[in-house]
Amino acid sequence: MDKMWAGRFSKSLDEVADDFNSSIRVDGRMYRQDIRGSMAHAAMLGARGIIPQKDVDLILAGLQQILDDLESGALEIDPACEDIHMFVEAVLTKRIGDAGKKLHTARSRNDQVATDLRLYLRDESNEIIALIRELIVTLISQAARHTATIMPGYTHLQRAQPVTFGHHLLAYAMMFCRDITRIQDAVRHMNVSPLGACALAGTTYQTDRRMTAGALGFDGISWNSIDAVSDRDFCIELGAAFATVMMHLSRFSEEIILWASWEFKFIELDDSFTTGSSIMPQKKNPDIAELVRGKTARVYGNLMATLTMLKSLPLAYNKDMQEDKEAIFDSVDTLKSCLTVFRPMVETMQVLEGNMREAASRGFINATDCADYLVRKGIPFRTAYKITGQLVAECISLGLTLETLPLEAYQKYSDAFEADLYEEIKLETCAAKRISEGGTSEASIQAQIKYITEFLSHV
Ligand code: ARG
Repeated sequence: MDKMWAGRFSKSLDEVADDFNSSIRVDGRMYRQDIRGSMAHAAMLGARGIIPQKDVDLILAGLQQILDDLESGALEIDPACEDIHMFVEAVLTKRIGDAGKKLHTARSRNDQVATDLRLYLRDESNEIIALIRELIVTLISQAARHTATIMPGYTHLQRAQPVTFGHHLLAYAMMFCRDITRIQDAVRHMNVSPLGACALAGTTYQTDRRMTAGALGFDGISWNSIDAVSDRDFCIELGAAFATVMMHLSRFSEEIILWASWEFKFIELDDSFTTGSSIMPQKKNPDIAELVRGKTARVYGNLMATLTMLKSLPLAYNKDMQEDKEAIFDSVDTLKSCLTVFRPMVETMQVLEGNMREAASRGFINATDCADYLVRKGIPFRTAYKITGQLVAECISLGLTLETLPLEAYQKYSDAFEADLYEEIKLETCAAKRISEGGTSEASIQAQIKYITEFLSHV
C-alpha cells in the first residue's frame, strides 16, 4: 500500500525500516477510541462549515460501519499499515471515496494519538478501578469473618503484639482504597482534550475545540497546543498509580507466600490456585502469588522506561513518544490479569486459625500488656517496661510463657502483680482492649469496614 505521505518521496520506505517504524501491532487496540475521536472531529468540521454536511454524513456512516466490521470480525486490522490512525482513514477512503479524504482537515496524527491514548486509558482505568473494588469487597468479607481470629502482629518480622487476622486484611483494603483514589486523580488530570492542537501550532481553520472535547467526555481542553501534543505526563502519573497497586499486591503476595509455608502455615491456598512440582511429589507451590510479586517488576520497569523516554526530549512531538503505548499498555494488561487472579485466590484461601493462635502464644507478644497492667497499678511506664523485660528473660530461662509463669515469680519483681494479671494478658483480652480508633479491637474493625463500605459507595 502506498503511504499517505508518499508525495514528497521518490523512493518507498525500506521494508525493514517500514516494519520497525510501524506501531499498529501495539496501537491497533485503540481502534474504538480512534473512531470515536474521528466521529467527534468530523461532526465538528460539519458544524463549523469547514467541510460539507453531506461529506460528514458519509464519514460518520463509514466510520460506524468500520467499527461494526471490526467488532464483528468482518474487517481485520492490516498489520502492514503504519498505525491505527492511518488504517482507519485508509479504509474509510477506500470505502466512501473523496469524502474520506476530508476527515483529516484541521487535524494531525499528533493531536489524534494524544486524544486516543487519553480516551483509551480513561476506559481502562475504569475497568481497573472496578477490579480493585471487587478485591476490596472480598477483603472486607474475609475480614468480617475474622474479627476475633488472633494472630501475631509483626515488626521486623518478629512477633510483636497480638492483632486479629481481620485487622491485618483490612490494612490491605485501606491501601487499595487509596489506589482507587490515586487512579481517579490521575484520570482527572488526564481528562482534557488535546484534539485541535493539530501538529503543534494549532490551525487556521475556525474549529471548535470545546465541541469535540464535550462530545468525547473531556472536562476541558488543553490550553497550549505545543503542550497538548508533547505531554505524556498522564502516562507517568497513571503508570505510577498502577505501579503502586502492584507494589501493594506484591507485599500481600509475599505474606501469602510466607503464610502458606510450613514454617508459618497460617493459611492453606486452595488447590485451584497452587501448582505441583515436576519432581517433588509433596510440593504445593504458591505460583500465582509469586508471579504477581514477579510481575510487579515489569510494571515498575514500564514506568521507568516512560520517564527515561521523555527525559531530554525536545518539544514538540518526536517519534520516541510512540514507545509510550507499549509501556503503559503492558502495565494495564499486567495489572488487570494480576487483579483478576488475585481476588479469587484470596477468597478461596483457608485460614488456619489454630495455627495462628498457636504462633501468637509463643513470642511474648503480650509483654506490652503486662507492662501496661503495672502502669494501671501506678508504676511509671519505664519501670514497668524494665520489670517486664526481666520477667520475659526469666520465662525464657524456665521455658515458660507469661501466661504460665506463677504469680509468686511475678511478685518477686513487683508486689503490684495480683491474680487478675492472667486475665489481662490473655491474647484475646490484649486484642479486644486495643480500642483506640484504628486499633485491632472488634469495634474498631467494624468501624473500618463501615468506612470502606461508605468509601466504595462513592466510587
Ligand atoms: N504512531 C504514532 C505514535 O504513536 C502516531 C503519531 C505519529 N505522528 C507523527 N508525526 N509521525 O506516536
